[in-house]
Amino acid sequence: MLHTKIWIVDFGSQYTQLITRKTRELGYSSEIITLDECRSRFEKKSLPECLVLSGGPQSVFEDPNDYSFMFNELSLPVLGICYGMQLLGKYFGGVVEKGIIGEYGHADIHFLNTFRINHTPNTMSVWMSHSDHVSAVPKEFDIIMKSSNGLVAAIKHLTRPVMGLQFHPEVEHSKHGKQILDYFYQEIAGIKSDWNAQEMLNDALAMVKKIGNKKVLCAFSGGVDSLVAATLAQKVLGENLHCFFVDNGLLRLQDHEHIKKLQAETNLKIEIIDAKIDFYEALANVDEPEKKRKIIGAKFIDIFETKVKEYQEKYQIHFEYLLQGTLYPDVIESISPHIAGGKSVTIKSHHNVGGLPERMKLTLLEPLRFLFKDEVRVMGLALGLKKEWIFRHPFPGPGLGVRILGAVEPGAIRMVQESDQILYEELIESKLYDSTWQAFTVFLPVKTVGVKGDGRAYENVICLRMVNSSDGMTANWSYFPHEFLEEVSRRITNEVKGITRVVYDITSKPPGTIEWE
Ligand code: XMP
Repeated sequence: MLHTKIWIVDFGSQYTQLITRKTRELGYSSEIITLDECRSRFEKKSLPECLVLSGGPQSVFEDPNDYSFMFNELSLPVLGICYGMQLLGKYFGGVVEKGIIGEYGHADIHFLNTFRINHTPNTMSVWMSHSDHVSAVPKEFDIIMKSSNGLVAAIKHLTRPVMGLQFHPEVEHSKHGKQILDYFYQEIAGIKSDWNAQEMLNDALAMVKKIGNKKVLCAFSGGVDSLVAATLAQKVLGENLHCFFVDNGLLRLQDHEHIKKLQAETNLKIEIIDAKIDFYEALANVDEPEKKRKIIGAKFIDIFETKVKEYQEKYQIHFEYLLQGTLYPDVIESISPHIAGGKSVTIKSHHNVGGLPERMKLTLLEPLRFLFKDEVRVMGLALGLKKEWIFRHPFPGPGLGVRILGAVEPGAIRMVQESDQILYEELIESKLYDSTWQAFTVFLPVKTVGVKGDGRAYENVICLRMVNSSDGMTANWSYFPHEFLEEVSRRITNEVKGITRVVYDITSKPPGTIEWE
């Protein structure tokens, strides 16, 4: 984002992303930054219109940082949430106490005296998650809310635009949280709410314009993110943008149709690279999931590398940038104090073309890096892209490779493709496609006994996997009408040669993952 009004300083709360989301939903541009980044911007005399200090897992007693650089700005609005409020309490001379009884989960809070916030009731249920608390409020502050446990829930500076909330207004469980945030931004900080799809688009276009007249390569999957990124980039880059779509032979039948439509109905220059044989050869007899993922990821990079060389030699086109549809959650994850230096176990190595920029000396161009998925969708619609393109289910980079358990061989590819197509057609036909986050079939290389006609069948199994999720991090299996499941099962066992049995996966994530491999 080029010039955000509200900076959210991340102290490591699991809810920091939500503060940004809620703030943007209210129409204020905002971004998450680290404390170091915040300090360095202040040193360069670059200031926001408002600062929000997030919650965090640590205790102010162990916090060695000096916050005077921000609090010395007398007119700068500051909202402290949870840990952020305790920082305010400590800095301005109040008393913060180590909690004996913490408050976790729902709590009722109420206003004191005559203070009220527009459109909120006198008593509200909010979400708390703290053990330390401000027990004596600094002299220059008023207590405006308390919890039913008698703890200070909200404080407000008498003369400066500074406020602290012990609860989390950003989470859904705090019913009037959004109104409280809006009250702070509008009434106390005096910020204009003007962040919308057009603004997002202008920012993203400006980011692309900055690179000037350069050749850009786009690893184009046809999914929402690469489609929106390419469409907006194309408006600036025109002929300089080249989209490459790799047919790795692990696509669904619907993907072939989709890419043809995009070639026909958009202005994008999309070249389809047929690399089926390459992938099949590399995957022959490989059945270990991580090995498959690594092979597929490496193959993508090889193919793009060859393409880049070919363009250089054949057409004297020298690519300098790689366009990617990276989204904000990935960016946040990479700057989160939780992650930095932390250890996380690799559950699955997600394929991308991550190795390509270093190998080819390409600079990344990521015009969506400040946006959440729902904002990208809004932007896609604003760019005139069709709704059914923008609301497609996610599809993993390694494609059907991770939906065919065991070795990837032609029979299994056919069975998973045909069954997936049936499921897809039925979802569209029953208008259920949008009721689930992701829906697909998985090929299980186990044989079971069945009866087809008058004969014995000894054939494979297809598993249906449909889940609801908001970000893919957690998921629950989707509830579908029995009639729908029955029809899908009937069609798959009748129409897909080699399948006698269909099962439905009723595992949530965790402990299962969404994909089977
Ligand atoms: P899992 O299986 O980890 O999947 O629960 C979570 C979400 O991520 C998608 N997924 C991938 N997306 N490259 C991607 O771009 C990958 O390698 C990959 N693996 C899984 C998955 O479809 C689900 O939406």
